[in-house]
Amino acid sequence: MALRSCLTVILAAGEGTRMKSSLPKVLHPIAGLPIVAHVARAVHGAGGSDIALVVGRGAANVEAAVRAVVANVSVHQQTERLGTGHAVLAARDAIGAGYDDVLVVFGDTPLVESAALEQARAKLAGGADVVVMGFRPDNPHGYGRLIEQNGRLIAIREEKDASDAEKRIGFCNGGLMALRGDGALALLGQITNNNAKGEYYLTDVVEIANAQGKSVVAIEISPDNVIGINTRAELAEAEAIWQNRKRRAMMLAGVTMQAPETVFFAHDTLIEADVVLEPNIVFGPGVSIASGAVIHAFSHLEGAKVGTNATVGPFGRLRPGADLAAKAKVGNFVEVKNAKIGVGAKISHLTYIGDATVGAEANVGAGTITCNYDGYNKALTEIGANVFVGSNSSLVAPVSIGDNAYIASGSVITADVPADSLAFGRARQEIKEGRAVQLRARYAAQKLAKKAD
Ligand code: UD1
Ligand code: CA
Repeated sequence: MALRSCLTVILAAGEGTRMKSSLPKVLHPIAGLPIVAHVARAVHGAGGSDIALVVGRGAANVEAAVRAVVANVSVHQQTERLGTGHAVLAARDAIGAGYDDVLVVFGDTPLVESAALEQARAKLAGGADVVVMGFRPDNPHGYGRLIEQNGRLIAIREEKDASDAEKRIGFCNGGLMALRGDGALALLGQITNNNAKGEYYLTDVVEIANAQGKSVVAIEISPDNVIGINTRAELAEAEAIWQNRKRRAMMLAGVTMQAPETVFFAHDTLIEADVVLEPNIVFGPGVSIASGAVIHAFSHLEGAKVGTNATVGPFGRLRPGADLAAKAKVGNFVEVKNAKIGVGAKISHLTYIGDATVGAEANVGAGTITCNYDGYNKALTEIGANVFVGSNSSLVAPVSIGDNAYIASGSVITADVPADSLAFGRARQEIKEGRAVQLRARYAAQKLAKKAD
């Protein structure tokens, strides 16, 4: 099957008005990836890596979203929306280039899985001319019904054109179709708009192919595969299904989660086996976590790398460019951005480390802030290996602290600190013996005088 060439036509010319959005429907994200890119991913996984994208408005952005996943994309404008059959023919040139298999998928069905598409391609490889992907929804209302006879699919009847008997059929058209490339254009070219909606129905190829004695079959795929997104409520439902699939896959791959329903992944989250994820964690895009790491509760990670046996949180925030080496510790209420944290370094509490390097085994005390931004420019803070930064220190970048140096608590460090040295950057403490007693006496007298007024 790998040897068969395959073109996938993605129909994405829909208006998506029910999303009530200025963003084209297929660009709304699920797990941080646009809906249409999810479709492209599934297609790619099924070997359909040449894509003909049929678009309406927002074409350039839709194209870019698909290209981010698959390189070989041709774009076809469907200027008038005259139906799914008409839409597929917008890609006539691409189909005519000559492929063994032609897949037709909808750009708004993000949960389609490669396995379902592979199953359809396998039927083509086995000699079928047309393969329709059917499913059994809880409520078939609105879907095209699959009319079978002796294991052959003889017609698809759209809801509006169906008789009462046909409406009772529970096996429905998911909308996805696979066509033998050779002869596909000839079939598609015979579709007319002679039906209740006056549209060119892609589904008519079933009757057309049957009339020519071709082999037409339906396969059954799980309903998730064909969930189309029309509203933001459906978008959220699809997100939930996607997250559940991902959680399950993560757990089966060796990731421990105490409350998986509270952990949210991005489309590209990479987590090795033997990582522990406590409850309530959100992953933005671009996170990878190595084996043995523990992410404590209520942490938020994005664009970050977490090394072997490192720990984050509770309430840890890793922003893009955070790169934690093995055994590093980023504790509660600590934010790290664009910073490399060395092996075994500890940043345990209430700290901001941005645009910085922290050496191996360094200990950054509570309340430390890298002052990396002066309102105009960002500057770098370098903290050497085994440095001790006393609590509540401000490191005003650009500044460099040499290996093994020691920063006194409460310091404002504005100049470089050489290795092995101790730096104080604060006013010296003064003691006035007995003055507390005098002070209290004075204040008490003032209070009394006020009352007497
Ligand atoms: C279609 C099927 C129906 C199936 C259902 C599953 C046809 C005629 N009917 O119906 O059997 O049960 O999907 O959801 O195919 N599109 C275009 N250009 C057009 C028309 C549609 O790009 O001119 C795109 C839409 O953006 C959408 C997809 O094709 O992504 C499906 O179109 P839609 O109008 O939603 O088809 P349904 O009536 O739902
Ligand atoms: Ca639809």
